[in-house]
Amino acid sequence: MTETQTQPRPAALRDDPKVLKVALLGCGTVGSQVARILLEDSAALAARAGARLELAGIAVRNLDAKRDEELPRELFTDNAEALVDSADLVVELMGGIEPARSLILRAVRKGASVVTGNKALLAQDGPALFEEADRNNAELSFEAAVAGAIPIIRPIRESLSGDRITRVLGIVNGTTNYILDQMDTTGAAFADALAEAQRLGYAEADPTADVEGHDAAAKAALLATLAFHTPVALEDVRCQGITGVTAEDIAAAKDSGLVIKLLAIAELVTAAGEGGAETEGASVRVHPTLLPREHPLAAVRGAFNAVFVEAENAGQLMFYGAGAGGRPTASAIMGDVVSTARRVVAGAPGRTDTATRRLPILGIEAVTTSYSIGLEVPDQLGVLSRVAAVFAEHGVSIETMRQRIDGDEPGSGEGTAELRFVTHRASEKDLAETVADIKNLDVVTSVTSVLRVEGV
Ligand code: NDP
Ligand code: HSE
Repeated sequence: MTETQTQPRPAALRDDPKVLKVALLGCGTVGSQVARILLEDSAALAARAGARLELAGIAVRNLDAKRDEELPRELFTDNAEALVDSADLVVELMGGIEPARSLILRAVRKGASVVTGNKALLAQDGPALFEEADRNNAELSFEAAVAGAIPIIRPIRESLSGDRITRVLGIVNGTTNYILDQMDTTGAAFADALAEAQRLGYAEADPTADVEGHDAAAKAALLATLAFHTPVALEDVRCQGITGVTAEDIAAAKDSGLVIKLLAIAELVTAAGEGGAETEGASVRVHPTLLPREHPLAAVRGAFNAVFVEAENAGQLMFYGAGAGGRPTASAIMGDVVSTARRVVAGAPGRTDTATRRLPILGIEAVTTSYSIGLEVPDQLGVLSRVAAVFAEHGVSIETMRQRIDGDEPGSGEGTAELRFVTHRASEKDLAETVADIKNLDVVTSVTSVLRVEGV
């Protein structure tokens, strides 16, 4: 029989309750909510963290800006460096690359752990920041950086660390999901839906990052890095945003029982390497995608996010919730703050860097998927067979075809027709060659859209 050993309590907890000084960098949409929670819930947080979390100060750019009146004025400073130097734990919610990057490095170099929601910075400089944190025995946590309130980083890093994740597929940008959903359900114009998403605090300071897919691409890079244990940088992600999605695309999708979503897709794929040997690599992409309306991701409405994870042993898992906004994102930040504080109190910070191998990054050429192709053609005899022949020449198999004829006398040869093909899975290369040859047909007026399709 083994004798039970009692763990000695950390020195910090033996005397007075320990106090951890928390520096908050930024007091915008998310930072102001983090400050509120730290002040309002201090007793509960202290009980869970094992230390009192004292808000030591809030660094902002403009000291004269109007703030929540509940936040004591004396906490505000424009000297972020001095605030970092005084802290045990730093919460970075300024966004952007600099000075966020320098301040995070400054914090970890003096051994202070950092919690951030800054996916743009992590997708650009993550490996260097993680390495510096590990070297200095500090933690760098970023649950809020992907999918707002949804716990997805910790499940991938920890709960699934004994499994082999093969695919992650998700709606990870609230702004674009809100815009596409508004366009789909209310017929709103793109600009109006974007303005409302900005008003609600979902969009980045510069919404280009949202609508061009860069924000989703940064999150996809982070998810892929963690899921596949290999460094994936922003430039490794093939990215297309939603600015090219038209009201006609949305209406045509609706007619066909489909919906358009901006998906981030990270997958392990194999490609033929030199000498015919198969190489395993990671492929990561963000693009507007057609989904059947009965697909679980099609039901993700408004600014909500959802992430599907496929793992060899766990099978399919889905994580769903609020992907943006001050309070939901502050929840994820506070989760990191409390769990980091616990480890700081225990004197045992965890490792941040989880990249244990270097997989090749495979381009979209290595991926096969279904496509939807829209064409405008004259409503004339033989047009369809000419178009279908091009698909066949390139070995791209057609799954479905729908046509809508505009004109007073269908079949008279006077009107126009809109053709929509959905293919079986095909490679990017075969599809691109098919589309190029279709464009050159004298019977095709224009190719109106090319969208990838998942889940059919
Ligand atoms: P905001 O633009 O609303 O707030 C930014 C804050 O940082 C402001 O208080 C600003 O000061 C301060 N700040 C900016 N630059 C400096 C600087 N050079 N020195 C000192 N203070 C500075 O951003 P959000 O709260 O929306 O986002 C914060 C972070 O969280 C970003 O990395 C974002 O990507 C991420 N995030 C945001 C989500 C959201 O839904 N909004 C969701 C998930 C992550 P001042 O007030 O004086 O202008
Ligand atoms: N602008 C981002 C979005 C905020 O719309 O999802 C959350 O990262």
